[in-house]
Amino acid sequence: MPEAAASFRTASQMSESTVFRTPGETHLGVGAVRMVGPIARRCGARALLVTGARSAKASGALDAVSESLQEAGVEVVLYDRVGREPTLGMVDEARQLARESACDLIIGLGGGSPIDAAKAVAGLFFSPRPTAAHFEGRVSLPDKTLPWIAIPTTAGAGAEATPNSVLINEETKVKKSIRSWAWLAKAAIVDPALTVACPKSVTAASGMDAFTQAVESYTSRHATPLTEGISLRAALEIARGLPRAWEDGGDIEARTAVAWGATMAGIALANARLGAVHGLAHPVGTLCGLPHGLACGILLPAVIEFNLDVAAPKYARLARELGAAGETSSTEAAARAFLAYVRELNARLGVPASLGEAGLTREMIDEIVEQTLPSQSLAANPKPASREDLRAILLAQLE
Ligand SMILES: [Fe+2]
Repeated sequence: MPEAAASFRTASQMSESTVFRTPGETHLGVGAVRMVGPIARRCGARALLVTGARSAKASGALDAVSESLQEAGVEVVLYDRVGREPTLGMVDEARQLARESACDLIIGLGGGSPIDAAKAVAGLFFSPRPTAAHFEGRVSLPDKTLPWIAIPTTAGAGAEATPNSVLINEETKVKKSIRSWAWLAKAAIVDPALTVACPKSVTAASGMDAFTQAVESYTSRHATPLTEGISLRAALEIARGLPRAWEDGGDIEARTAVAWGATMAGIALANARLGAVHGLAHPVGTLCGLPHGLACGILLPAVIEFNLDVAAPKYARLARELGAAGETSSTEAAARAFLAYVRELNARLGVPASLGEAGLTREMIDEIVEQTLPSQSLAANPKPASREDLRAILLAQLE
């Protein structure tokens, strides 16, 4: 297995100790949502339940969570105004409601957006400053946080397993994350049955976010033997389940595979970080008005191609695990087979082949590049990417 030795860690990096962290507990499986009441009871008596305006209600997820909390004797205060992107204003509003209602616990229910909002509400509960002050890095984060529980209803972002909250400044449209290890969830409750109601477009976008996160955490400069194993298996579970879950949303076996993969990718990225796709995807998503996962899916083949000379052994390993290349093929051929596999996966899920088809214009490119350059994700990419490299990647998307 030639790729086994394909590590990007230098000798000095290998001698540095690393740390690996996950949520306090992770419950994963059909019916896991029933665990929320008993877990919440251990953390507090009154929970602020942070969710979106519609999908958690329509799918029955909100009822299932509320019922379990009620049975356990936990009071619920509802904040259901999180939109597609969690804004600083929403976090401020929810923090205030949590304080006024004397909540001692936060629960995030929904896609990545309500979960990231809930995470920030818990993390900043004890801060007297507006969320913007922390977002801009002007003041340090409070030492104390409220406990919080994550219950995803999409299989994608992996936000239930990460210590960062991706927020958007509604005025400047800048999107970035606040990150603190203290912000990891007390519990992640991942119930694949809650994802059954996801429409095809959400299944594709969130699934490609998860797949990209598995791949980028695997090839990250900060990957360790511990995270690499998780990333690899995450990619496999997502690739196995996603096309089936997309074709038949009610296929609970496929939904379960994707749920495992998405949470595992979240655990891997929390500890290993990501790469250039995620560096670019935030400004691309904001400027083109694209869902994050869709931006990731479209950009992934372009970044794989850019990284190919440096990361070929890892892409080859992925191709072999996924059955896209044989054991005897050369590293380069197998890495190219992985690139073809990703393009094919996108095509099967109806993901556009380029950003040009999805709203990118030449005028947006400089702004995207400037916003990408300081990103921590970009810094973790296996191959350093300069301003000119990023411009070239984006320009090629217009062809
Ligand atoms: Fe992502």
